Amino acid sequence: MIGVFDSGHGGLTVLSALVARLPERSFLYLGDHGHAPYGERGVAEIHDLTLANVERLFHEGCRLVLLACNTAAAVALRRLQQEWLPGAHPERRVLGVFVPMVEAVTEVPWQAQEPPPGARRAPAVVGVFATRRTVASGAYAREIALRAPAIRVVQQACPGLVKRIEAGAAPEVLAAMIAGHVAALMERLDGRAPDSVILGCTHYPLVAQAFAAALPAGVPVHSQPALVAESLAAYLARHPEFDVAPGPRARTRFLTTGNPETVGALAARFFGTPPIFQAA
Ligand code: DGL
Repeated sequence: MIGVFDSGHGGLTVLSALVARLPERSFLYLGDHGHAPYGERGVAEIHDLTLANVERLFHEGCRLVLLACNTAAAVALRRLQQEWLPGAHPERRVLGVFVPMVEAVTEVPWQAQEPPPGARRAPAVVGVFATRRTVASGAYAREIALRAPAIRVVQQACPGLVKRIEAGAAPEVLAAMIAGHVAALMERLDGRAPDSVILGCTHYPLVAQAFAAALPAGVPVHSQPALVAESLAAYLARHPEFDVAPGPRARTRFLTTGNPETVGALAARFFGTPPIFQAA
């Protein structure tokens, strides 16, 4: 099984793209609904929660875990990869969701770490909507600037949005909040529209239509689930040692640290068919 982790429902947006792209792989989803949202928590707390949940997925037999959570990835991924895994689980891997987004926006491979020689990009403005903690980490702005300095990144934190998504708030409540965040970002651009937008939180694809409706028509929105699925498929091809044997009996299981019944019911609102969650 490949482990997929998020603070709550958001990672399901990534998981459904993974299942569509890799239908013969088995996945184990773990939502830390009992502690969501992460985006307003402190760095040490997010690190410790993320580590505990990755341990849980390792314990279930996953050798490869994807943090389908920008907040956990922005705050904890590098430390887990550099300080924890080599000593505790040298034979396992943890991946995040930043790399494919940054590659898509900059059109520069992650490993390059700098603009390709002779490459000149037209100046562009990319808007990033994310949790307060992801914005504070500066991860998107930093990684994009390294590879494409002509791109100006304007970030907009959306405090409270994940909490309301997790609580099952009415669509019009979510739409009003999102309209406010889009207006705040455009105000910082003197009313101009960004050239494209990153939804830098895996919960936001659940309300992508509200973002599209609030943005001026035609502003492209980079879709994290599809990009992450493509990137994981490429990773498995490069690292067959972390692949699981593909087969027709592939299945996906769902764990939650919250109440399996309420979590499953809300997931059904977003996905149609309710995933059956079990207590983690
Ligand atoms: N879906 C998450 C992310 O991508 C987590 C949000 C939260 O728990 O605040 O950032």
